[in-house]
Amino acid sequence: MTLNRTKRLIAPSILSADFNRLGHEIQDVEKAGCDWIHIDVMDGHFVPNLTLGPPIIRSIRKETKLPFDVHLMIAEPLRYLSDFSEAGSDIITVHLEACHNLKETLSEIKKLKRLCGLSLKPGTSAQKLEPYLKLVDLVLVMTVEPGFGGQSFMPKMLEKVKWLSSRFDGLISVDGGIDLETGRKAAESGANVFVAGSSIFRQSNRKEFIAQFRKAVSI
Ligand code: DX5
Ligand code: ZN
Repeated sequence: MTLNRTKRLIAPSILSADFNRLGHEIQDVEKAGCDWIHIDVMDGHFVPNLTLGPPIIRSIRKETKLPFDVHLMIAEPLRYLSDFSEAGSDIITVHLEACHNLKETLSEIKKLKRLCGLSLKPGTSAQKLEPYLKLVDLVLVMTVEPGFGGQSFMPKMLEKVKWLSSRFDGLISVDGGIDLETGRKAAESGANVFVAGSSIFRQSNRKEFIAQFRKAVSI
């Protein structure tokens, strides 16, 4: 998979999908015009919630050709990277706060030939990313506390997006509380990937919403 930094990418987070019909939900947002599928993996330890792992990713891999943007909110992800890669992840993002040996973790993602993402919680300063910026393809700025969908966007996180946009060549993703309004603000600050769970999945007409969203972030 190669990077296109000029296109703004919309990545629905399946955390807010109806898990009883997950395959159908994924096909629905694909038909509605999204770019990536964002998959939140939580371990009940790094974050206070549990979600899914490689077997479910493997089984939904058959539903779409869209890239899988896998956001690992798990402690010491190094142990599981090959499992997530084999299951069909295209982008693997780990948390700066979750890794004992972050450089080794990032280089393992590269060895697996996946795009490499690094995320940080709201309380972690952007400056902490500095030693790793040359090693990653994407930085995912958490704009809520990781763990749950449906929370309110934290406007202060836009400062991190601005900080990154002046010194990082890769993709800048925002995740948490993203809707038309906050997505536009994030785009103005330099974000180019927009992860949105509840704002997309609660729509009855997702095609129309994604078209509006694309307009809002195409500044
Ligand atoms: C939260 C996850 C998000 C979540 C976003 O920890 O990383 O991807 O699904 O959900 P919304 O868009 O509802 O805030
Ligand atoms: Zn996420």
